[in-house]
Amino acid sequence: MEYRANTQRYEQIEYKRCGRSGIKLPLISLGLWHNFGGVDTFENGRKILRHAFDNGITHFDLANNYGPPPGSAEENFGKIMAGDFKPYRDEMIISTKAGYWMWNGPYGEWGSKKYLVASLDQSLKRMGVDYVDIFYHHRPDPNTPLEETMAALDLIVRQGKALYVGISNYSADETEEAVKILNNLGTPCLINQVKYSMFERWVENQLLSTADELGVGIIAFSPLAQGLLTDKYLNGIPANSRAAKSWGFLQENEVETAIDKVKALNEMAEVRGQSLAQMAIAWLLRHKQLTSVLVGASSVEQLNDNLGALDYLLFSEEELTEIEAILNK
Ligand SMILES: NC(=O)c1ccc[n+]([C@@H]2O[C@H](COP(=O)([O-])OP(=O)(O)OC[C@H]3O[C@@H](n4cnc5c(N)ncnc54)[C@H](OP(=O)(O)O)[C@@H]3O)[C@@H](O)[C@H]2O)c1
Repeated sequence: MEYRANTQRYEQIEYKRCGRSGIKLPLISLGLWHNFGGVDTFENGRKILRHAFDNGITHFDLANNYGPPPGSAEENFGKIMAGDFKPYRDEMIISTKAGYWMWNGPYGEWGSKKYLVASLDQSLKRMGVDYVDIFYHHRPDPNTPLEETMAALDLIVRQGKALYVGISNYSADETEEAVKILNNLGTPCLINQVKYSMFERWVENQLLSTADELGVGIIAFSPLAQGLLTDKYLNGIPANSRAAKSWGFLQENEVETAIDKVKALNEMAEVRGQSLAQMAIAWLLRHKQLTSVLVGASSVEQLNDNLGALDYLLFSEEELTEIEAILNK
């Protein structure tokens, strides 16, 4: 059936300025790492994407290697762009990345100019778009001069293939250095995409404040610890879960290690009158430095649950202390 976007979509969600840029991102963005690849059901992915856009999610996050197989999430997204979202291209922030292994040989991963430029050309073809809104360097490369990697990002913007550039998995010090180089080149760094959840808190040490000072946005990936911070694993590992899938990145032993904390957090969320997923997202959004929380979802129901986080974002001091106590157990 022909897709027409919900006319009320911009009343569903709040948008927040990304660092000191002109771009606003929705408080919740959608990532296509899992659930949109060649191994997944295409129509399910399409339903999730339509539902996201209908609810005001304007930001869709991809990478060259998302699938599996690598590249297939971009291909599927391209089909949905062509079929559903074409009239809405100017209302969307589409991001992709390069940094992890994508093809054989010395030019298929890490941070050389050769790899980044070639990879983005491939991504644009797969998605059938002329440009992406944000192009990221996916992970720091210890063996390529940062000047070269940042020069590649600058070049890509000057070529018109990306409007903004970002970095991902860069520490506070690495961010500071990258920002300095990019500023000198005249292409500011829009955003750093980092792993951040109740279970993964390295960004709190320095990065949040450094990014704030530098005027760089922060978007948190795996905010639900890949599904751990939900009610999904309370009664074991369901067959349709990421932990059970051979290509899923969540390991069964991670579930076993975390489950006692998950149960305690779930009880707390119940008292607050929200789901654990909602509490985990709200807990992140209380940081003023955070631009957006980048969730994944394998169903429309999950996405809806996650969007419900925005209905109740407040925490009392007692609640925050209780969460710390559970996490530090
Ligand atoms: N830059 C990087 O290096 C990097 C790395 C990883 C991810 N990312 C980005 O971040 C995005 C999100 O990462 P993520 O998928 O790990 O995020 P996540 O939100 O922590 O986990 C998503 C998974 O949790 C489960 N889930 C989500 N909502 C749920 C709910 N309400 N109730 C029960 N289960 C729920 C689903 O797993 P099931 O399939 O088990 O249902 C879903 O696939 C990725 O798509 C990607 O765009 C970036």
